[in-house]
Amino acid sequence: MALNDSIRYHKGALFIDALAVESIVSETATPVYIYSLGRVLENYRRLAAAFAPLNAKLHYSVKANGNLGIVSALINAGAGFDCVSGGEILRALTAGAAAADIVFAGVGKTEAEIAYALRQGVGWLNVENPGELQHIQAAAEASGREAVQVALRFNPQVAAKTEPAIATGHGAAKFGMTAAFVQRLLARQAAFPRVKIAGIHLHIGSQLGDIAATRSAIKKALELIRPHPHIKTINIGGGFPVAYQPGEKLPSLRGFARALEPLLRGYRVLLEPGRCIVADAGILVATVLYVKEQAERLFYIVDASMTELLRPALYGAYHEIVPLRQTEARRARAQVVGPVCESTDVLARERLLPRLQAGDRIAILTAGAYGMAMASNYNARPRPAEILVRGNRWWLGRRREAWADLLQYEEPLGMKKTLSGPELC
Ligand SMILES: Cc1ncc(COP(=O)(O)O)c(C=O)c1O
Repeated sequence: MALNDSIRYHKGALFIDALAVESIVSETATPVYIYSLGRVLENYRRLAAAFAPLNAKLHYSVKANGNLGIVSALINAGAGFDCVSGGEILRALTAGAAAADIVFAGVGKTEAEIAYALRQGVGWLNVENPGELQHIQAAAEASGREAVQVALRFNPQVAAKTEPAIATGHGAAKFGMTAAFVQRLLARQAAFPRVKIAGIHLHIGSQLGDIAATRSAIKKALELIRPHPHIKTINIGGGFPVAYQPGEKLPSLRGFARALEPLLRGYRVLLEPGRCIVADAGILVATVLYVKEQAERLFYIVDASMTELLRPALYGAYHEIVPLRQTEARRARAQVVGPVCESTDVLARERLLPRLQAGDRIAILTAGAYGMAMASNYNARPRPAEILVRGNRWWLGRRREAWADLLQYEEPLGMKKTLSGPELC
């Protein structure tokens, strides 16, 4: 089972740190996300310790889980942040991050986002496109910034051992720039006098299943910057894997760090971990609404769905599912499905689970990364609440959306107005 020191059974009941999950859920209702801040910080410290010999700076990837309580706890632990939109920068700043500790990445930054990032004073921009350099130069002139520090995102054209949908470093991916492209840009540095190309950035994918592809990508990056000794920073991205399935064999954080250390000595190293910090610190709790048996299949229809946890529908991702109360009930193969009107709204297929009844509660494990962050209002479903746990205390991090919230951006019926320019934002 993908349980851990924070999320585990105690006397037959599922606990998160010192609290029975049932005791929280009896007050919050379901579906609900619950996160252990202790586990988040433990994961952060484990990664920091593994990369301590490299003196690496960790920039937590806000896209994995932008909950303000989590971001704020990581600020206190010393993290910087990797943001991929103006909204994520705003989120990190709102939680109290220093702008200088933010790396602004992303394949399609708008001019407005670039200008905002510069006005705020973000520390780094990871550039994926020559056009971006022009926008950065213009925004630097407009805001009076003399020097903006950027890293070029390199697409090393290596295939990471991972789910194809989350591989980003192969030549056919939209991410980054190939070696020839990076070389051409490096040759044109003087055309962007306020842009200081001081780093090289790569991220070859998420949930990396081996270290070899990362090593090979880093070697290629170092080769590329060798003729440019002023480039002293290498951002190796995130992608450190997490066990979603019991018994899954994956490279360890220490394994990654040890294998990369000889290559990276002498460079300033940045990391952008997301999943490995938050995934196993979070659960999504749901209630069984109905049990349906037909066509020789057993369906548990639960109140969570692809709108709360998209990963199974998006890329067939596996999440372990456990009851809140351990039971001796007979086990049967079942489909755990949500109420959304899509055939792909299946949280688990043909999964051996204890027999459940309507009203029983289940926890979907390892849901702390790319869970709430990808949640949507499809089928006009309000997004769930997020609960934070620290030891024996819990509190509401984000309230459940109400039906009325779903209407908050609508214009009153019958009032037609033509919008233009900035009003559209
Ligand atoms: C550029 C970049 N950095 C970091 C991350 C975080 O990856 P992970 O959550 O697998 O650590 C991603 C994920 O998509 C990414 O695209």
